[in-house]
Amino acid sequence: MAKIIAGVASSHVPAIGAAIDNKQTEEPYWRRVFSGFEKAKEWMAKAKPDVAIVVYNDHASAFSVEIVPTFALGCASEFPPADEGWGPRPVPVVQGHPELASHIAQSVILDEFDLTICNKMQVDHGLTVPMNLLFGSPKQWPCPVIPLAVNVVLYPPPTAHRCYMLGKAIRKAVESYPEDLNVVIFGTGGMSHQISGPRAGLINSKFDKAFLDNLSKDPKKLTRISHLELMREAGAEGIEMVMWLIMRGALDDKVEETYRFYTVPASNTAVGHIILEPKRRAVTKGKRPAAKMKRAAARTKTVIRRSK
Ligand SMILES: [Fe+2]
Repeated sequence: MAKIIAGVASSHVPAIGAAIDNKQTEEPYWRRVFSGFEKAKEWMAKAKPDVAIVVYNDHASAFSVEIVPTFALGCASEFPPADEGWGPRPVPVVQGHPELASHIAQSVILDEFDLTICNKMQVDHGLTVPMNLLFGSPKQWPCPVIPLAVNVVLYPPPTAHRCYMLGKAIRKAVESYPEDLNVVIFGTGGMSHQISGPRAGLINSKFDKAFLDNLSKDPKKLTRISHLELMREAGAEGIEMVMWLIMRGALDDKVEETYRFYTVPASNTAVGHIILEPKRRAVTKGKRPAAKMKRAAARTKTVIRRSK
């Protein structure tokens, strides 16, 4: 049976991709950003997922404003990088997992989430930048990817609650897939930023940090945030953070926060990153229950001996 072994959230700032492509990652400005992802890359190298589901938004690359699906699932066998105006990024073509993707499409649609199925799709920085941040810059991406594009560019985007519930449906779909696969799910975008208008350059670190706290400990609180509140507090493009709730909905209610990183700014955006794992996984690693049981068994034997 397939299972979701962790959730990862990360900003997908296009300038981060440009810094990678132009080999500027060691420059002091960018070093501050990239150093925060070193531990994340180490964690991912150990996690070795069989498949990654990457929730992201398309920035008028694969979809123009003529057709804007609310949720679009990539069911193709590959997804080439899109030309975003200065040529496609020099990153590997993303290999898909059509079998699992089709299974998710069937399960989720029968659960009444009306996905658009994409059998041909290009992917932009919204997907490829988080891939770089978590997997580095290999010649081939280390695992197949199922892209899930969410509309957060043209009003109305889906609500935070709808995203959270879709995450739950995706988890149910993954767990009903018969092959043993370890799946990591990414939520991308954010954190606070606004790229145009009188509030251009807005960053709200207090809101971002509270969002990270709640994402870890009280995600249901975040599902009650309205679009208006999210945009007022985190900027017009801060609305991207609803995508993090799809990732969070796919995890247990209670999770272990494995890692967090936050820095301001990258380009004109607050950069946030978090890794969440099921508690049972973290506990298994520590082997505390077994040690506790041995000590309890020893105490019981002592009591029995004394009572004889
Ligand atoms: Fe974006």
